Amino acid sequence: MSGHRRLSRGERIVIATHNAGKLREVAALLAPFGIETVSAGALGLPEPEETEESFLGNARIKAVAAARAAGLPALSDDSGFSSASLAGAPGVRTADWALQPDGSRDYAAAMRKVMEAAQEFEDRTAWFSCALVLAWPDGHVEGFEGRAMGHWVWPPRGSRGFGYDPMFVPDGHDETFGEMDPAEKHRISHRARAFALLSAGCLPQG
Ligand code: IMP
Repeated sequence: MSGHRRLSRGERIVIATHNAGKLREVAALLAPFGIETVSAGALGLPEPEETEESFLGNARIKAVAAARAAGLPALSDDSGFSSASLAGAPGVRTADWALQPDGSRDYAAAMRKVMEAAQEFEDRTAWFSCALVLAWPDGHVEGFEGRAMGHWVWPPRGSRGFGYDPMFVPDGHDETFGEMDPAEKHRISHRARAFALLSAGCLPQG
């Protein structure tokens, strides 16, 4: 995933996610760059299976599949929550920990699973990771990764954000991502950090 190719102002890209929370955040981050976006869901694109063991690997699968299917550049996000005492779990399995028998996802239950597995350990260090991959229909691919370090808390706090936000307090803050003003989360999050790298490498400048 080396070399840099830049998108142009006014260019249309696919946001290769079916997750409403990620779609909202990625669209907000892209808004100032004059890039038009359409979601994979709106185009009716299928969700490919995420078979890799890294965030960048899974993001690559999603971006490449969407770019090929849509004939447009596609930007994907693969992200997750990690606990130090669980050797980085749930990690790339973050969404799976929320999966219910009926196929729906329950994040309150997923957060409880993390708490139950990690509570016997003193070390509450946790982090979010985000890999952003931009793929073009001709096969060119660029990938960037960002992390937000912090610790997990119980009980979960706050109803802003999505997913595991209510159990994560980023370093240097007292509020969880679930309590924080979204603008503040966008300043310091794993997604914002990955996005800063993407922007420097691949988004229109000036
Ligand atoms: P993916 O679709 O495999 O990338 O799943 C990512 C998982 O991580 C989802 O379950 C999300 O809820 C969770 N996740 C990713 N980013 C965030 C975030 O910014 N806040 C809270 N949860 C997140």
